[in-house]
Amino acid sequence: MLKPILAANWKMNHGPTDARAFMRNFLAHYRRDNDRTVAFFPPSITLAAVQQALADRHEFVLGVQNIHHEASGAFTGEISAGMARDAGARLVLVGHSERRHVFGETDEQTALKCELVCKAGLVPMLCVGEKLEEREAGQTEQVVLRQLDAGISRLEPTNVATMLIAYEPVWAIGTGRTATPQDASAVHAAIRRHLRERIGERAAVLPILYGGSVNRGNARLLLAAPDVDGLLVGGASLDAGNWAAICQE
Ligand code: G3H
Repeated sequence: MLKPILAANWKMNHGPTDARAFMRNFLAHYRRDNDRTVAFFPPSITLAAVQQALADRHEFVLGVQNIHHEASGAFTGEISAGMARDAGARLVLVGHSERRHVFGETDEQTALKCELVCKAGLVPMLCVGEKLEEREAGQTEQVVLRQLDAGISRLEPTNVATMLIAYEPVWAIGTGRTATPQDASAVHAAIRRHLRERIGERAAVLPILYGGSVNRGNARLLLAAPDVDGLLVGGASLDAGNWAAICQE
């Protein structure tokens, strides 16, 4: 069985000063013997503060929330995969629902981003998930597998085998409405079956995280669900004590 992965996506919250206070508080609550991998996706401008606060704690993994889909150039306000690596990131979120639906990120851009992330020696966490109307129209698998196929379309199977997937139904993100463990399991199993066609038995150990209104009350049941290998948490990761408790579920 995989070691569960608990990932905090802070979105546009916690600048460096907040993050330093958060980390002091979090580390005071976090048990060192915890058998989990804990990842943080702070805003890029906060990455260095989080890295410094975790300096000698190699059990934590850092990532960025987004990169640009080109390697460099005149893209004011953007960061590249190479810059993310240089700043200490090991993971990169690609295709988060807010990138897709607020900023208009396309499937083709997620493919380019995954490719750049892998070329930079980093690991993409590709986010996929259906909107409410798509679920209600019975299109969940179709949408999720389309996003998955697009995201991995430019990757070698060896890169696919070492990436992470996050299933985040759009209707569950920040709404307080969580997928049931059964619903999450069903979609995760479909993702894994689909990946098996591409990378064979390596799909059995590819981490698939669930995200969408995870909290202290539902984290344990979700983590216990078949094929759920971890959680990607937004709102409930913003409070240090709360996040430390979720990491220990
Ligand atoms: O990346 C995290 C997800 O968007 C979930 O956010 O836990 O606030 O629903 P949430």
